[in-house]
Amino acid sequence: MYRLFLVLCLCYGLPGYASEEETPTSVYEHCGNLQLQENIQIKLITGTWYVIEILQHKTNDKLYNGEKFEVPTCPSVFLTLAGSDTDLKLYWNEDTGDIEYLFKIKDKSSPGFWLSSGSQNGTLVQVTTYDQFAGMVYVRKAISNHMVLTFCSPNTQLYSVVLARDKTLDAKELKSIVNHMHLQKLPITQTKRTCRSSASTARATAWMTTAFCLTYLQAWYLRVHK
Ligand SMILES: *[C@@H]1O[C@H](CO)[C@@H](O)[C@H](O)[C@H]1NC(C)=O
Repeated sequence: MYRLFLVLCLCYGLPGYASEEETPTSVYEHCGNLQLQENIQIKLITGTWYVIEILQHKTNDKLYNGEKFEVPTCPSVFLTLAGSDTDLKLYWNEDTGDIEYLFKIKDKSSPGFWLSSGSQNGTLVQVTTYDQFAGMVYVRKAISNHMVLTFCSPNTQLYSVVLARDKTLDAKELKSIVNHMHLQKLPITQTKRTCRSSASTARATAWMTTAFCLTYLQAWYLRVHK
């Protein structure tokens, strides 16, 4: 009887605990509480970037279960100031097509907060499944070799894009980005890794070169010491 009571307590206790943990998530769904990197200089973050990871934050058990996967595509992002110093153009290009976003910096004292301006265009927009993005972009981290942007449209979209100047980013850096999100209780419900095939090809090439050199050295050694 006592055991049954304990089991019941556990069963009722856990969902209560879980919902308490979920409170910050709903704040994020409304785009609240997303911290910005301070002191960014827009001019320093313009130019070409590569998409390293796309981290989904929406909690929808039917769509996302925390899965991690790699896709062979390697999107590039070209960020430019469009005319004035408060209008930004983000051009996203990958194998399957391209897309252009326009953003406005509402407040010059907060250059890491961008508001979408108008609709997106490009070939990827013509795909029937495309949902126009209407919302905000938060520059959450911007340092010389990488940047983290969080796209949020209240109750509709919430995901982050990890960008790097090269097609690869140190695993240590990626881990620290993910850890930071965990600390802030921003859930990561799916991890899509891009631009990975070129890195693995480079690794494979390096290994083959090493193997070839070793074989060659061994042959030379055997010949010399005959
Ligand atoms: C989007 O539209 C603008 C204005 O018509 C055009 O200059 C630009 O090239 C278009 N971008 C894409 C990716 O099609």
